[in-house]
Amino acid sequence: MEIHQVEPDEWRLWRDIRLEALSSDPEEFGSTLAVEREYGEAEWRDRAAEGLKVVALDREPVALVAATAKPEGLYLYSMWVRDSHRGRGIGEALVRAVLEWAAGEGWKIVTLRVWVDNLPARRLYKRLGFVQAEDPEYMECRLS
Ligand SMILES: CC(C)(COP(=O)(O)OP(=O)(O)OC[C@H]1O[C@@H](n2cnc3c(N)ncnc32)[C@H](O)[C@@H]1OP(=O)(O)O)[C@@H](O)C(=O)NCCC(=O)NCCS
Repeated sequence: MEIHQVEPDEWRLWRDIRLEALSSDPEEFGSTLAVEREYGEAEWRDRAAEGLKVVALDREPVALVAATAKPEGLYLYSMWVRDSHRGRGIGEALVRAVLEWAAGEGWKIVTLRVWVDNLPARRLYKRLGFVQAEDPEYMECRLS
């Protein structure tokens, strides 16, 4: 398994795994397949070039995560692991990659939004140092 930072030119790689995630687990995300499958090349290129995009490769992409700057801190989003690859620590490896990148870039706080009933994701984030924020749908991790 390779953890791979997506380059702007790899926008197709990002698009395909993102659409697979939205199609497979629509209830876990703030966006929808109906919206994102209408994006054209220019939108996907902009997305791939913005912030941090990381995929896990098992010959082909099987998991993804993204991070982007927000006023309150670095915002982690788009976290998904293909069902066949869950329970092997791939999600954890992706979040660790974001936290390492964030520390290297000087971020002091990483935030994310996760539904209150998404317990597998919440446990994973908690293991890696995230705590519930004031708003119960948000978690945050302070970097030392
Ligand atoms: C949440 C998610 C990213 C975790 O990825 P992962 O690579 O399975 O993470 P881990 O291997 O660290 O396992 C996390 C937990 O999920 C459990 N799990 C969930 N689905 C599983 C499956 N199909 N097979 C095995 N274990 C599974 C693991 O046992 C583990 O439980 P634990 O915390 O009690 O140890 C993944 O389940 C997923 O993509 N879910 C749908 C999308 C989603 O919810 N994204 C997060 C939005 S905020």
